[in-house]
Amino acid sequence: MRKPSLFTICFVIFIASWIFLRYIVGSLISVPIPNSVIVMYMALILIAILVHISVEDSRLSEFLRPIIETLVDENKKVRRIVLVVLIPLFMLGYTYTNIAQKAGPPGDPRDAHPSPPLELTYKDEVIEDVENPYRHLEKDNPEEFKSHVENGRRVYYDNCFYCHGDHLDGQGHFASALNPLPANFQDPGIIPNFQESFFFWRISKGGPGLPKEGTPWNSAMPIWEDHLEKEEIWDVILFLSEYTGYSYREVGH
Ligand code: HEC
Repeated sequence: MRKPSLFTICFVIFIASWIFLRYIVGSLISVPIPNSVIVMYMALILIAILVHISVEDSRLSEFLRPIIETLVDENKKVRRIVLVVLIPLFMLGYTYTNIAQKAGPPGDPRDAHPSPPLELTYKDEVIEDVENPYRHLEKDNPEEFKSHVENGRRVYYDNCFYCHGDHLDGQGHFASALNPLPANFQDPGIIPNFQESFFFWRISKGGPGLPKEGTPWNSAMPIWEDHLEKEEIWDVILFLSEYTGYSYREVGH
């Protein structure tokens, strides 16, 4: 039998390495190897092959001979035509399988503002009155109201601006690392659509307090009842509407 050409040997080594990495190693260690690792190993193997064939001029020309023959020899016409057809067909198939829409189960529906629980609680204490206990001061005692808003401002800039932003627009330093993004309180669709008690619930229980339809997203919103007093939470709620100029939905509406 004719000795296989250097080109054939290299080609077989390359393909065999790929099959080995892609299908055999994975089943041996029973976890598939990530594609990026396979690409890295294949690049190393390719470099090794290139080094091997290029160390001597004679080896290089032996390697190139079948390629050049295929391209120019009169009697290799059939091989040439087959290649010209096969390579684009292969690329077509490869591209198609990579970009074609794959059928899959529909994603879980997700509700960005899930319904709150029936009872408003702070830690385990049930809050009977769902109105902000300091809201009435806005009319009854504007001075005291202002001091609650100021306290809310302090709470906000001590705890919330990292994520929700200096300007309450959801653009805090951490925001770009978070998915879902922190709420943007400047968005007219947020504050006017919710009662203050809804915010109290969201702030006190955070992402972990979201009901099932609020998942599977991993909200980074912390559980603030572990760190803030009840009054501080009501105060920061006042601050959010004072700063943005939006009013919450009133109870009973
Ligand atoms: C570590 C980042 C982070 C910090 C700090 C943080 N939040 Fe959030 N917050 C989020 C993210 C992310 C969301 C959106 C996902 C969600 O609704 O849970 C969110 C959502 C909210 C919502 C719900 C808004 C809506 O439209 O349903 C409120 C209210 C809120 N945050 C208030 C606060 C307040 C007040 C503070 C400070 C006491 C604070 N957050 C601190 C990340 C943060």
